[in-house]
Amino acid sequence: MFPITDQQLSITIVPAEPQHLPGVLDIARCWQLGQVADEIRDQGFLLAGWDLANYAHFLDEAEHFYVATHGRDIAGFIIAYDQRHDHLDPMLNRELKRTLPAYVNIEQICVDRRWVRRGVATRLWAHLFAQCQPVPIVVEIVSSPPNVPSATLHRKLGFSPFIDLVRPGGTLTTVWRRDRRGHAA
Ligand SMILES: CC(C)(COP(=O)(O)OP(=O)(O)OC[C@H]1O[C@@H](n2cnc3c(N)ncnc32)[C@H](O)[C@@H]1OP(=O)(O)O)[C@@H](O)C(=O)NCCC(=O)NCCS
Repeated sequence: MFPITDQQLSITIVPAEPQHLPGVLDIARCWQLGQVADEIRDQGFLLAGWDLANYAHFLDEAEHFYVATHGRDIAGFIIAYDQRHDHLDPMLNRELKRTLPAYVNIEQICVDRRWVRRGVATRLWAHLFAQCQPVPIVVEIVSSPPNVPSATLHRKLGFSPFIDLVRPGGTLTTVWRRDRRGHAA
């Protein structure tokens, strides 16, 4: 279902550990909406601006926090948690709990700019998928301005739009959903 290419073979997916967090933060900060130059927005961006304490919190709380490593470098990471944990963001949590009895929510998926378009996100996703309970997997993606790479990636992975949200401050987002058997919701 998720064929591994030669390029992807040079990376290893491992559970995140405390020593990975500064590298995770460096990667995330490069993609922060507002700091990302317009010319590279077409490679995606992050809405949430988590700090080191937030990532340490995810390390403690999230069921899934994996890093893609290449030697000592971190090529990317993925963080996901299920309905048992209250997310740092109450609005998304409320919406998910209102609509789904059980789910795994991808909090962040992010790839170092030097590693984009080489299958790292696909590898991280496949690893998460293999570890998850058989419940819907969801991810919130900013729709205005559109995060085209993320939407394209997740559509390719079998997700489809599920709930539209208006964030405090007016940012429009869409929660995308993928059911276990590969069928979008
Ligand atoms: C979005 C992101 C995670 C993709 O990571 P990646 O490792 O480059 O993704 P992959 O190489 O596994 O790509 C898989 C597919 O996703 C789609 N895709 C990835 N990047 C894309 C881009 N810049 N434009 C259009 N489609 C893209 C393509 O369909 C691609 O398949 P292809 O290369 O065979 O055409 C990465 O660009 C990133 O970290 N962006 C900044 C942070 C972000 O936007 N995170 C998501 C927040 S919801």
